[in-house]
Amino acid sequence: MANDNPMVYLNGRFLPLDQAQVSVLDRGFLFADGVYEVIPVYGGRMLRWSEHWRRLEASLAGIHMPPPLTMIEMESALQRLIQGVYDQYLYLQITRGNAGKRDHNIPKDYIPTVFAMCSPIGPLPRETGIKAVTLDDIRWKLCHIKSIALLGNILLRQQALDQGVNEAILVRDGFVTEGAASNVFALLDGVLVTPPKGPDLLPGITRDLILELAHKHDVPAKEAPLPLEALHQAQEIWLTSSTREIVPVLELDGRPVGSGRAGPSWRNMDELYQAFKARARSGQ
Ligand code: PDD
Repeated sequence: MANDNPMVYLNGRFLPLDQAQVSVLDRGFLFADGVYEVIPVYGGRMLRWSEHWRRLEASLAGIHMPPPLTMIEMESALQRLIQGVYDQYLYLQITRGNAGKRDHNIPKDYIPTVFAMCSPIGPLPRETGIKAVTLDDIRWKLCHIKSIALLGNILLRQQALDQGVNEAILVRDGFVTEGAASNVFALLDGVLVTPPKGPDLLPGITRDLILELAHKHDVPAKEAPLPLEALHQAQEIWLTSSTREIVPVLELDGRPVGSGRAGPSWRNMDELYQAFKARARSGQ
């Protein structure tokens, strides 16, 4: 059974979740002035830790904030948190902390807030797949920063849920950007296509891993702009993220995608991904 009061990390201390507290003046609370990471943990090992750290550094640079800890310091704190933990994911959040008052100006002096906790993974929608709708990407123009300001994503996800489907696939100026909390792959004439990195989307760690696996195993794949019309013609559509791995989209905008069932390319990539995970779990 999941422990509902696990140990968490807060500003250098390890304490039970129900004792972890931050100030109401924390800029994360007042302004969503912070960034985060979600890191899968298999067999007590973080998957792609250095990639997650590099993205965290890039997000911090994007909000003009130096990393409050070194990579080694952060890693050893997280390692202590995941001791004995089997398959879970780590949530890590860094905010610009409490500067003593509510002021829009970025303060010169502040003590950042660093918080991390583990949560159970799954259960995952695998071949049962999910349904999605396309929605106008109403978010800001710095979507490559993994900002804790997720209201745009949340409203889009809710719009999808209200339409009776699981996820929103976002479209900006006629091109697919990403999912409300995932990256998008489409199989077009036998080639996997995912939108190129840039300010319109989060550079997903799972996305990169899939491109890497595709390259290694001769699966035709490319990063290219993905027009909405092309998405509607796709033989397969997948959504990817650290917490949901690779999920086939079986219905888009009320119409079946391809055969309406999890396709052979998804099956192949999912096998490669599961094999990669199994190796990571055993420390290889
Ligand atoms: N989100 N795009 C968005 C907007 C996301 O929120 C996520 C993941 C991704 C996929 O990134 P990655 O493969 O690195 O998980 C893409 C996490 C899981 C979350 O907010 O919980």
